[in-house]
Amino acid sequence: MKFFVDTADTKEISELNALGLLDGVTTNPSLILKSGRDIMEVTKEICDIVEGPVSAEVAATDYEQMMREADVLSKIADNICIKVPLTFDGLKACKALTGDGRMVNVTLCFSANQALLAAKAGATFISPFVGRIDDTGEDGMELIAEIRTIYDNYDFGTEILTASVRTVNHVKQAALIGSDVATVPPAILRQLVKHPLTDKGLDAFLADWAKTGQNIA
Ligand code: E4P
Repeated sequence: MKFFVDTADTKEISELNALGLLDGVTTNPSLILKSGRDIMEVTKEICDIVEGPVSAEVAATDYEQMMREADVLSKIADNICIKVPLTFDGLKACKALTGDGRMVNVTLCFSANQALLAAKAGATFISPFVGRIDDTGEDGMELIAEIRTIYDNYDFGTEILTASVRTVNHVKQAALIGSDVATVPPAILRQLVKHPLTDKGLDAFLADWAKTGQNIA
C-alpha cells in the first residue's frame, strides 16, 4: 500500500520524505488554510519535495470554472493531481482531465455508488473519507471493502485512496482490505512505528549493552 501524507505543512513533508516514507501528498482547501500559505506557492514547494502525485483541489463547483482552475493548477508541476469533488460537474471534469492525460483524484466519496461513477469517469484515485463516515456512527472501512470488491469485479484501474484517516487502525484495515493508497496525517504516520514492547525491549537491550562495557567501533 502506498502512503500519501495529508498535509500542506512543507516541514512535515520534507521530514517524512527524507525517511523514504512518502509516495505522494494530498491537500485540500482546509489544509491550505491551516498552512497560512498561498496555494500556488505552497503547492509548488510540495511538488519540488515529493516525486509522487500531489493532489491540489479546485475551488469551483461548476465544470467550466473547474477546468480553468485545473489548467492553472496543472502548470505548477508535472506531478500535480487535480482534485475534484464527487458531483456531476466534478465527474465531467474528471472525464475531460483524465482524457487529456492528467491525474485526477475524486474527493468527498461517501458511497460505493459514488465510487463506481468516479471509476467510470476514469478517475486516477477515488478518496473515500473513512473518518467522517465513522463520525456518523457507520463503519468507514466497510466502504473501502465494498469499493475494493466493485473495482475488482470490473477490473477498474482507479486506485482506492483511503482518506480522512484518524487512527493507526484505519491504516491497518486499509492495508488488509487492499486499499491501493492511504493518505495519512503526519502524526498518525509517525505513530505507525510505535509499539510499547519495542520501547521496552530497546531499553532492556541498551541497559545490558552498557553492562558489557563494549563499544562497536
Ligand atoms: C483527503 O484527501 C482529505 O484531504 C482528508 O483526508 C480529509 O480528512 P479529514 O476528514 O480529517 O478532514
